[in-house]
Amino acid sequence: MNILVVGSGGREHAICSAFRRSTKTGNLFCAPGNAGIASISNCVNIAADDVRSLADFAAANDIGITFVGGETSLALGIVDEFERRGLRIIGPRANAAQLEASKAFAKGFMARHGIPTAKFTVSHSADFAILELESGDFGGPDATVVVKADGLAAGKGVVVAKGRAAATDAINHLGEIAGSAAADKIVLEECLVGREVSLLAFSDGENFALMPAVRDHKRLADGDTGPNTGGMGTVSDDALLSETELSDIVERIVRPTFHACKREDISFRGILFFGLMLTANGPMVLEYNVRFGDPETQSILVRLETDFVDICEAMLAGNLSDLDIKWTKGSSACVILAAEGYPVKPRTGDIINGLTEAAKVQDVAVFHAGTARDAAGNFVTSGGRVLGVTAVDTNLDGALSSAYEAVSKISWPGMQFRKDIGK
Ligand code: AMP
Ligand code: GLY
Repeated sequence: MNILVVGSGGREHAICSAFRRSTKTGNLFCAPGNAGIASISNCVNIAADDVRSLADFAAANDIGITFVGGETSLALGIVDEFERRGLRIIGPRANAAQLEASKAFAKGFMARHGIPTAKFTVSHSADFAILELESGDFGGPDATVVVKADGLAAGKGVVVAKGRAAATDAINHLGEIAGSAAADKIVLEECLVGREVSLLAFSDGENFALMPAVRDHKRLADGDTGPNTGGMGTVSDDALLSETELSDIVERIVRPTFHACKREDISFRGILFFGLMLTANGPMVLEYNVRFGDPETQSILVRLETDFVDICEAMLAGNLSDLDIKWTKGSSACVILAAEGYPVKPRTGDIINGLTEAAKVQDVAVFHAGTARDAAGNFVTSGGRVLGVTAVDTNLDGALSSAYEAVSKISWPGMQFRKDIGK
């Protein structure tokens, strides 16, 4: 069967390689892809948000399954468009994509259905948001408050503000930070304290199947310092959640969320990502994403043993509960290598050395995010996050040491990475 993956990052490279491992995959296409993805699939020069052209391509090339990587195309209604044309595609429709595309919608949804999340308000202007802040509902002048832009902001829409002055400043500048369209509505939240963990699930609209829990590292530098990024590394480990914590999350959050989707007539087929905080009062939802995470996916899919096409078929057929999805026991780790200047102004065009040596390290996969080829055929940097060096092992220390061994083979001028992933 021919497969089309939509997107161009490390996540999409990991998704393409999961499809490549399936004996059922015929021609594999990725739109637009990147230089690393090109070594395992045919890259098609169509942008991920050009929904009509993607549907034309799928129809013309006998694509059996289209798999969407990112939120932008989902929010634009790529699934609605494909379904209208009778094309098979995995992902939620635009109405369900609102769970990520509008934080105000997601918070209202959780409130309506009693799904635990931080206390919040939604304001339609900066002035009203400041009035909410000054009402004292989020604590006194020194309280930490989380200021969020409502819309999609590629990870730049959240400011954890220490004290009312910082929160006021964030509210007044949210348009510049997150983009004015995203900051059209402003969500204020109480600041939750605890351990962060992410849990992702496949859903066929009726049933869901959980993936291994994963933890990401959002800050640029060691010790959780420096600016927020799209993610500098992830680990997946069976010990991230105890059995009690997991069943608590499923009963209080995962099951109620899918149930609520049905009650609101939002059919959710695809991947739902629960960003969670484990607080003293139990697990709470920080955010929903309606897709695989990047770089969470890299460390999740390297542990997948079940045929990825079979999972997609089960999601399309609505019989996910008949499939026993298998994962390798143990752990995996993904270390992101980023370009100089990331996340503010990444420098591009640097030649990447050592990829062949890194690929020889056992149980390591190097996923490409921002890479291209120069005229001489060398791999060069072409984005902020450049590579995701990912390893699997029976234990976390083993996975981390393989990943870092492969990292030590790779270099380019100004390469940045965290040395404390998984610590
Ligand atoms: P989000 O995009 O909503 O997941 O927010 C990005 C990051 O901000 C999260 O991964 C958390 O580290 C932090 N964050 C968001 N909301 C809260 C909250 N209510 N309390 C504490 N931290 C938060
Ligand atoms: N790594 C976080 C995300 O994909 O949203």
